[in-house]
Amino acid sequence: MAYKHFEAIEKHAGLLGVLIAIMVSFGGLAEITPLFMEAHSIKAPPNVHPYDALRLMGRDVYVQNGCYLCHSQMIRALRFETERYGHYSTAEESVYDRPFQWGSKRTGPDLARVGGKYSDDWQRMHLMNPRQLVPLSNMPGFPWLAKIKIDGADVQARMRTLRRLGDPYTDAQIAAAPAAVAGKTEMDALIAYLQGLGIDNEPTPAVAGSAAVGAAAAGNAPAGTGGTP
Ligand code: HEC
Repeated sequence: MAYKHFEAIEKHAGLLGVLIAIMVSFGGLAEITPLFMEAHSIKAPPNVHPYDALRLMGRDVYVQNGCYLCHSQMIRALRFETERYGHYSTAEESVYDRPFQWGSKRTGPDLARVGGKYSDDWQRMHLMNPRQLVPLSNMPGFPWLAKIKIDGADVQARMRTLRRLGDPYTDAQIAAAPAAVAGKTEMDALIAYLQGLGIDNEPTPAVAGSAAVGAAAAGNAPAGTGGTP
């Protein structure tokens, strides 16, 4: 009896197609729905804090200047990635990134854990003109950033907006922001931001060791090879 039904389905391509579509969408829902639920439940681990005033500004300078168009901040859980860049990225690390900077476009290397890889002076020279340090680099220079002073009130406004969205900035932190950025340029802020990447928001201590090993390996990788997909 049941065979008759199967035969009817198998002999009608349209019906077969519709039933396959229904089955696949159930499968899809079963996979996708829990992810949506999970996204709301991701909380910052204890070692991940909102950006301090200077780094917050640096992050905005990063976004404003389109650094993400050539750099991802998402280390994938694949061996060749973790050997080069360090511990793979986790969702928790990005809870205070609005918008997050994951991405897959890599004209230049991934920057998720570039903090501490070079000195501040290296970063400054590189941002002024990358070819001073990496002769074949095709990264543009951003020399004007060194001339733009940061406005403390502007940083406070950004912090207040983020607080409204749920970032736990305290009144004291917001009050202290203008002093923290006084006399600093967008270049200083961007360097502070870069030097914090992957440092403050390292995944759990249990895996920190492997991240350190990965970072050391990344340090040995020739800088400026670029173009890694
Ligand atoms: C047109 C693409 C492009 C843009 C835009 C770009 N970069 Fe790069 N970046 C590269 C390439 C290619 C390299 C590798 C060569 C080099 O080191 O200069 C690189 C290297 C780097 C490195 C060194 C990474 C490492 O591990 O050695 C840092 C840090 C960096 N970029 C930061 C930035 C920042 C910050 C911005 C935005 C202000 C930016 N980049 C914009 C292409 C780009």
